[in-house]
Amino acid sequence: MAMKSVAKAAGISAGTALLAALSLPFLTNLPTPLLTFVGERLSPVPDYPFGILPFFSSTPIAPAPFVCDATHPYRTELVSLDPLVIYIHSLITPGEISALLRTAEPEFAPSEVTKNGRTLNTADRTSSSAGLPRDDPTVMCVLDRARNFLGTMLRDGWDEMGPPQLVRYRAGQKFNVHHDWYETPRWANDGSMRRWNRVASFFAILQDNCTGGETHFPYIRPSIVDQSPHGEAKWRGGLQDQIQRGEKEPRPLWREHENGGVAFRPVAGNAIFWINLHPNGTGDERTNHAGLPLVDGLKTAMNIWPRQYYLYD
Ligand SMILES: *[C@@H]1O[C@H](CO)[C@@H](O)[C@H](O)[C@H]1NC(C)=O
Ligand SMILES: *[C@@H]1O[C@H](CO)[C@@H](O)[C@H](O)[C@H]1NC(C)=O
Repeated sequence: MAMKSVAKAAGISAGTALLAALSLPFLTNLPTPLLTFVGERLSPVPDYPFGILPFFSSTPIAPAPFVCDATHPYRTELVSLDPLVIYIHSLITPGEISALLRTAEPEFAPSEVTKNGRTLNTADRTSSSAGLPRDDPTVMCVLDRARNFLGTMLRDGWDEMGPPQLVRYRAGQKFNVHHDWYETPRWANDGSMRRWNRVASFFAILQDNCTGGETHFPYIRPSIVDQSPHGEAKWRGGLQDQIQRGEKEPRPLWREHENGGVAFRPVAGNAIFWINLHPNGTGDERTNHAGLPLVDGLKTAMNIWPRQYYLYD
């Protein structure tokens, strides 16, 4: 028995070394985006690619399978208590970002909006959007993380995370002030006599190579600022934290906007989370927000809109 497991262990480690040795020459032939992705997943090498070793199969080397890090640590900061707005640092990892972009890239089409119950293309929203498949491993990983964040806000087996979406802005593109909740809750499409609304929103930045493109909430006043009656230094969105980490050019993550409210600059991996609905289920106008125009570059973000369901009555 003992002999057997020793042999087994030796076999596995020899196999791992062999795999690493065999894989490296192939990796150098991969296009750069794939190489970047595979590079992040090299250590530890997952067990299951044994089946697709080039010796045993003619399957072309695919990017390493996505491995969900269910314990990925993110960090949160309160921005506003009422309505609740939370800034989330590093909600989405660089590896998840490349995988999500690769999945969505072919799907981008001009964004639509709903107005008076009708779906339209409009000058109010000039970005492009891409749906994401719910069964994609990276999408499931990120949605599970967001679901866990929501805790008691959703009821398992009743509410759901909703279909996630990517949105992309280029120079001059914007999304005028709007809200994410529906005026009239939507009918469930599962045949049940239920309606749903978007109880909360996660807006996570995936690509931030741009100037401009802040997300502006005209009616949100950072609560913490109000509690500072003697003109002490204001908390400026993670700035202190950046200074402590020794970042060369620390910049606040959000600022008070000249027309009121708060504006968040896009930072890849980070997300804004807020609650859309009042406890009685009606929409909270104070969550109105805009995607300010991009001066240049590219901004891509992921929308996650958890749905709360109501029984028809
Ligand atoms: C729901 O709650 C909000 C916030 O308290 C209130 O302003 C609104 O009038 C309420 N609406 C209904 C239909 O009860
Ligand atoms: C960022 O955007 C600028 C302007 O569009 C572009 O020239 C540059 O190549 C981009 N950089 C990266 C890393 O994508």
